[in-house]
Amino acid sequence: MLTVKIDGIEVKVEPGTTILEAAEKAGVYIPIMCHHKNLNPFGACRVCLVEVKGSPKLMTACTTPVTDNMEVITNSEKLKRIRKTLIELLLINHPLDCPVCDKGGECLLQDLTYEFGITKVRFDEKPNNSPVDHTNPFIERDIDRCVLCGKCVRICDEIVNVEAISFINRGVETYIGTAFDQPWNCEYCGQCMSVCPVGSLNNRVYLFKNRPWHLEHTESICGYCSCGCTVIIDHENNEVYRIKEDVYKGVNKGLLCAKGRFGYELINSTQRPVTAKVKDGNEFKDVDFDGALNTIYEKLSAVISKYGNDSVAFVISPRLTNEEAFLAQKFAREVVKTNNIYSLETINALPDGTYNDVESSNALIVFNIDVTESNPVLGYSVRVAGRREESNLYVFYPNYTPLKRVATEFYVYKPSELYNEFELFLKALDGENNKYSEAADNFKNDDKPVFVFNPYNPKDVEIAKKVLDKVSNVKLVPAKAKNNSQGIVDMGCFNGMNPGLVETDKGVELREGIEADKIKALIVLGENLAVRSEYFDILNLLNDLELFVVTDPFFSETAELSNVYIPVATFAEKDGSFTNFEGRVQSLHKAVDKGVKTDKDVIVELAKKFGTTLPYETDKIREMIEVENPLYIGVDWNGGIVSYPYKVKIDGDVKFEIKGSGKYELYPAYLRLHSGSYTRRSYDLSKVYGEPIIEINPEDAKELNVKDNDYLTIKIGNDSYKYRVKVDKKILQGAISLPKDFKETAPLFYEGSYLKVDLIKHI
Ligand code: SF4
Ligand code: SF4
Ligand code: SF4
Ligand code: FES
Repeated sequence: MLTVKIDGIEVKVEPGTTILEAAEKAGVYIPIMCHHKNLNPFGACRVCLVEVKGSPKLMTACTTPVTDNMEVITNSEKLKRIRKTLIELLLINHPLDCPVCDKGGECLLQDLTYEFGITKVRFDEKPNNSPVDHTNPFIERDIDRCVLCGKCVRICDEIVNVEAISFINRGVETYIGTAFDQPWNCEYCGQCMSVCPVGSLNNRVYLFKNRPWHLEHTESICGYCSCGCTVIIDHENNEVYRIKEDVYKGVNKGLLCAKGRFGYELINSTQRPVTAKVKDGNEFKDVDFDGALNTIYEKLSAVISKYGNDSVAFVISPRLTNEEAFLAQKFAREVVKTNNIYSLETINALPDGTYNDVESSNALIVFNIDVTESNPVLGYSVRVAGRREESNLYVFYPNYTPLKRVATEFYVYKPSELYNEFELFLKALDGENNKYSEAADNFKNDDKPVFVFNPYNPKDVEIAKKVLDKVSNVKLVPAKAKNNSQGIVDMGCFNGMNPGLVETDKGVELREGIEADKIKALIVLGENLAVRSEYFDILNLLNDLELFVVTDPFFSETAELSNVYIPVATFAEKDGSFTNFEGRVQSLHKAVDKGVKTDKDVIVELAKKFGTTLPYETDKIREMIEVENPLYIGVDWNGGIVSYPYKVKIDGDVKFEIKGSGKYELYPAYLRLHSGSYTRRSYDLSKVYGEPIIEINPEDAKELNVKDNDYLTIKIGNDSYKYRVKVDKKILQGAISLPKDFKETAPLFYEGSYLKVDLIKHI
């Protein structure tokens, strides 16, 4: 340890600690501008200059490591004078439009201007009056306000690894821009904007809507994917104004993706109903909550007494919190007494590897998943690992993904070839000498190998199992889809599974149950079956149901088919917990109240009608879970990790099936901007990606005579589906990719995830 004195305060620090870090330890404040904890030191702004005893030169605290017995002065008159001049120099070109600038109130330059008492700039003020750039749909760029701290460039390069923006020109001509001033080739993560200390990069979704000092901040967990990012919900008067990261908290370490950061307007959406609806003949009538519950109670009781308990079925979505999911299955199993409980989740692959395992691994395989799209923050961790010089990252996927920049080898194969190729890799793990031998050796000889895969594809789970059989210390990372994909299974919302993954009697399969007229009442909590290809055909079978209940924040395509619809809360309107892909249980907190009930209200109040009291308070439900769910005994609800009984489970050999007989191989894409029915309700996300688009290789496009934005018809058997086109050289010739989570693609993917199709130019 080294001993350092900062303004007379002695601290002991590790070698390599900077003066800034030592000062922080000593509780001494040093102003900063270009420094950011998560980025490499840069030393550009000089605002953090300090005096070091014995040194004739001033030092930048953020870049200078301490030495033993160093004595530092951070707050002399001389330093104040220099810092003040530095700020004044920045203000020469900086437009003083603070009253309208969206950063007002949280701008470092503004703060430092106040701190140093600058009321007048001694130098000639020369604003540049450059035009404000609105080419990025989420980020406004005003280069005149830029202080050239480089944080945006560095975060896009060092962490996001996209390098969409950089310093352009030299000297006084320098500005932050895109290559050749072209539109941003960007992931829309907003990371650059989040670190900008001034109003140069602003959030367009939030622009001019509120002021930071009006906002209340509620910490919670993102409601989209299974990464489980900590978010700060900024709100006032029950309106959500923006969602931000907390640099110091959460598994996401201050990073968010486009969905989590910009996809929040759906919470405030004026399309959200606040009143329940009950179908009367062919028309829906608005009813109050109790009226809707009475209808459900009466019809459900009638169905049970006429057809028996097994005639009732529940579909439960991962949007429910653990607490809600637990109550939902309890209501189904103990009040209705049915085993017909479904979710679209899997028990074949359970959490094993963590972010830390991914980031610290030097040998990773990402198999058949574009994790940068499906689970963006997990994707950052893979990039962190991949960037390390000594690491080996091998990616197997049908097209190039952003991991190409950091992968040691990126193996691109059409779906029909991918599994055969991986079989060769598996053989190389067994010692066979083939083209994968070096990669296989690197992988199996590493002390912390990691395998990231798609847990919903049984063939991929089988592959994961084979990897585990050969490399016993591998950490498997099943990249689950939704915010509480894991939690709802843990809570027993799976056919044949009680809470804690304890096997129980299976109910009838949903499709067969409905087809065979065994299921007469269906209660769908939060799931929009219409966008889920797996359930798509069921929608056509629901007319014969005697009761069809849907809860959803929106009057979804599925809700339109129901007899009773109850609008419910989004993640921002409730308390509880979600369990992420690591098996980490994290609490969310209610930020706003949109005047609707939660799924918990629906379940608890409905149970009351049946004469059963279920607990309502989060603590009480958790007490019950801890008793009834062996996996959650003593769990820390604020970040604890659950230990699962196995990693992967698969029976027998799984055959890879690619249906159809066309010329092109179609495979599903999972998007960074869209993941189902919630994101489609976001105006800004839909502005960027509003409909499913076929991605096609340039050669194929030439042959078909199509260009960007033309339409192609996919023909499979007698069915045809029309979609817009994007030509992209990352796609292999003879393959096409199309996103899965749209209602327009649900009927197509119902036929299978991988299809051979023909393409016809749409005239
Ligand atoms: S939004 Fe993300 S990808 Fe785009 S420039 Fe900013 S940091 Fe880079
Ligand atoms: S745009 Fe913002 S973050 Fe980027 S260099 Fe300018 S001031 Fe710094
Ligand atoms: S990575 Fe997932 S959890 Fe994180 S902000 Fe994006 S959607 Fe939300
Ligand atoms: S904060 Fe140290 S040089 Fe900018």
